[in-house]
Amino acid sequence: MLLNLIYYAQVDSTNSEAWRLVEQGVSEGTIVIAKQQTAGRGQWGRIWQSPIGGLYLSIILQPQMPVSSASQITLWSAWGIANALRQAIATVNIKWPNDLVIDRRKLGGILTETKITEIASRGSSTITYAVIGIGINWLNSVPDTGIALGSLATNLSDLEALINLVLSGVQLAYSHWQSHGIASILPEYLKLLGDREIAWQGRKGIITDITTVGNLVITWQNSSKVSVYAPGEISLGYLD
Ligand code: BTN
Repeated sequence: MLLNLIYYAQVDSTNSEAWRLVEQGVSEGTIVIAKQQTAGRGQWGRIWQSPIGGLYLSIILQPQMPVSSASQITLWSAWGIANALRQAIATVNIKWPNDLVIDRRKLGGILTETKITEIASRGSSTITYAVIGIGINWLNSVPDTGIALGSLATNLSDLEALINLVLSGVQLAYSHWQSHGIASILPEYLKLLGDREIAWQGRKGIITDITTVGNLVITWQNSSKVSVYAPGEISLGYLD
């Protein structure tokens, strides 16, 4: 995939700018990067604070895949980015489904958005475009539950080096997923969750699996059955 990097001093949201560029006809591999965002968006309609010093970028892809597999995009990107970041600092983990963490503190997040096109003749829908938005704390200020990579000991010299590392991780993961599918990635994604014991609403359990559609499988203590949760149905928390 050929990359075409477009830099901005400031945008509302790199994801929003990416969608505007899609409307103008840009193709796969276009990357929107901004020094700061005035209306950065997080998961579940949250605001993503985006002061200068952080990494804010969006990647435009044309994956041509069934709508039912949409959440795989977030899974393989989180896997690819976490793997890449581990070259800089070995303690990076994933918090299902889309968070990057260090010591259970939020390092960054991924917001995947898709454009779906109906193919009337086939009676099916396809994801024709996807925008993968990535935010990583570098030298920006972070809340108590966050952590900034630039304040830790790594081999990264600057934000540019971090951008290159992240893009290489996404590219590798994209081509791996295209040729081998999500099943080959899930075991490694599970390993990157680190500690798989969880506590939620007074119950203790263990993450036993992630399904191919990105759902979390939990075995609760004192229960013989497993429970399956879609993203947003259960919150895993950051700190004890
Ligand atoms: C999350 O809620 O954890 C996902 C956060 C994703 C933030 C990034 S920053 C670059 C891109 N542009 C946005 O508006 N959001 C994503």
